[in-house]
Amino acid sequence: MRRMSCIQDMALRAKRRIPAFAWGYLDGGSGEEGGLRRNRDRLEAVLLKPRFCTGVRPDTSAALFDVTYAQPFGIAPVGMGGLMWPGADLALAALAKAGGIPMVASTVSSTALEDIAQAAGGNAWFQLYASRQPRINRDLMDRAWAAGIRVMAVTVDVPLAGDRRRDVRNRFILPFRPGLRFAWDVATHPAWALATLRHGSPGFPNLARYSGDVDGQTLTAFISSQIKDDLSWDDIRDIRQTWPGKLLVKGILAPENAAQALAIGADGVWVSNHGGRQQDSAPAAIDALAAVRSVVAGDAMLVMDSGLRSGEDMARARVMGADFVFAGRPFYYGAAAGGAAGAARAVELLSADLKRILAQLGCPSWRDLDRRWLWDGRDSP
Ligand code: FNR
Repeated sequence: MRRMSCIQDMALRAKRRIPAFAWGYLDGGSGEEGGLRRNRDRLEAVLLKPRFCTGVRPDTSAALFDVTYAQPFGIAPVGMGGLMWPGADLALAALAKAGGIPMVASTVSSTALEDIAQAAGGNAWFQLYASRQPRINRDLMDRAWAAGIRVMAVTVDVPLAGDRRRDVRNRFILPFRPGLRFAWDVATHPAWALATLRHGSPGFPNLARYSGDVDGQTLTAFISSQIKDDLSWDDIRDIRQTWPGKLLVKGILAPENAAQALAIGADGVWVSNHGGRQQDSAPAAIDALAAVRSVVAGDAMLVMDSGLRSGEDMARARVMGADFVFAGRPFYYGAAAGGAAGAARAVELLSADLKRILAQLGCPSWRDLDRRWLWDGRDSP
């Protein structure tokens, strides 16, 4: 793993190491994948202004909801993580505990939220996809709370499953019919196949008890059958009233939605375009972040993800207004590239890069990093 110099290196290795359908599910976006590309293009357009000889050694820690994390980033909720690499969720949860960063268990994670919570120590959060059945929502929240989880994100940007064309091309859709091509795909990735055999194929343990055995269905199909496709702010208000811990609303792009989330009592807003996996024409998350910043004030937290691949990208997000950031694919690229060691390498690379960029910017800490470090062109000759 030492030869992996960056997250993109890990992605290249992951692509070779896991079957095409698993790679397509992890790496893909929706539609023409414009949202996916835009996240990167717009991030790269954010230039930061270095100021040298400040005599400081940077501090990367960040406070969020009364907890001080060692790094200002966390592991975003990723459904079916076990498909990318068997055991990936638990390996990441252990890293979250050891590395002092939050990890968010997804409603549709392939590891039970209780197991993630235990492995992550106090650093597990929960992500809720609201079900059509309020009793399922209540039960999931009760379980998360009983497992010691105190922060929950409710995801609002999946009114319907995204247009995932790679999944269609790979026949990773319902009805799932593993044909010759699937068998060949698996057979030509023996490390993944063996690990999956040992571990068992990933299911949906958080939901299996409510909906019977859903093993073998695709995530996309499962979500479309369960998800509340007429979600309203009244539903989010109900969830707010049920969940006793801190609540973030995830998937916000429009400033007016951020204001609505705060109005119903959310503790923060999570700006995201779901990593380019939902709406092809969505703005880049970094652009939405700047717009949403203007309506999130006071104690409310502003969290962001989508497209971040380095500590330097995280610094860009900070300068544009994020209090804390998350990444999804980078950690699962790591796990797919090298199991637990690969996941650890991904955390290590991001942490080291963050420290480096703060030092290069002459910025004493994540806390201090703000728009003063934005190269906005006005200072140029
Ligand atoms: C996701 N994401 C996601 N979000 C969520 O709220 N619940 C979920 O179950 C999932 N599942 C999921 C699976 C996979 C394979 C990916 C890549 C992403 C979105 C995720 O939480 C996050 O918003 C994005 O991954 C951020 O973009 P990057 O960091 O992957 O570019």
